[in-house]
Amino acid sequence: METITPRSTNGIPAEKLDLNSKNDSKQQIIYTRDHFHTEFDTNAYLTDFYTKIEDPAMQLVLTFLPSIVARLPPRKRLADFGAGPTIHVAACFRNHVDEIYLADYLPQNREELQRWKNGESKFDWGAALRMMLTREGKDWSKVVETEAETRAKVFDIFYANCFEQPSIQCGKDLEGKFDIITSVFTMEYCCNTKDEYQTAIKNVVEQVIPGGYFIMGGILEETWCSFGGRKFTCLFITKEFMLDCLREAGCLVDDEKNCYLLEVNGMFLVCAKKAEN
Ligand SMILES: C[S@@+](CC[C@H](N)C(=O)[O-])C[C@H]1O[C@@H](n2cnc3c(N)ncnc32)[C@H](O)[C@@H]1O
Repeated sequence: METITPRSTNGIPAEKLDLNSKNDSKQQIIYTRDHFHTEFDTNAYLTDFYTKIEDPAMQLVLTFLPSIVARLPPRKRLADFGAGPTIHVAACFRNHVDEIYLADYLPQNREELQRWKNGESKFDWGAALRMMLTREGKDWSKVVETEAETRAKVFDIFYANCFEQPSIQCGKDLEGKFDIITSVFTMEYCCNTKDEYQTAIKNVVEQVIPGGYFIMGGILEETWCSFGGRKFTCLFITKEFMLDCLREAGCLVDDEKNCYLLEVNGMFLVCAKKAEN
């Protein structure tokens, strides 16, 4: 496995995923996954994390995902698992795959994705796309074109649940046939125990074809994080445990040609190939 640990540009640790701290009483409560349906505020989430992209976690993805994408061979089909209401991961892959599917657990997020797909979303993805274009070495005049190209590649939006099999409700034709699955800042928030985390990763990787890739971003050794003016619990995981789970799920984490791990301030991005059989 190739491990890269760049120096932080801002020195903000992962626990400061709390940029949007608002002094209302709800900010004092730590919600769990049982509150997602009522407390995950889709608009607040987008505004907090994707209008100015000051948050180090989101910066990590937009800064480094384009270079992971550039190292991968072009593939047919990608799913972004736990996409939330976001399209930036899809945008990073727009020129690399033929078909993109967005999958999320919450109806409010899938509705926003559908609005975006229909060209009816009010959210401006300009800041995120500009950051991504910079990393791709392209100029900012291409923002509108980039969003349109991404929209054209997004074929469908599915319900996803990492505790179910199949974990993406995509119909028999697509089940287990994704060449690449991405999942960013999702697993730690869905899982209350390490056993659940292990099962969740297995269920998601099961949807990747043999020889395909699983790309995951997450937070290490943290117990809560804040978004949309709410604090949510986050499962405390170590890097070693996360890699064990990928290994158990059939990912080639011990082979440096087939696994790339980036760590910055307690956050990680990992790209691992799934064994051929
Ligand atoms: C912090 S958001 C991450 C969204 C997006 N990937 C990003 O990077 O901004 C966590 C996502 O996990 C999803 N989620 C919650 N429980 C889930 C489950 N059981 N299975 C799959 N996704 C789930 C939520 O709907 C939410 O969109």
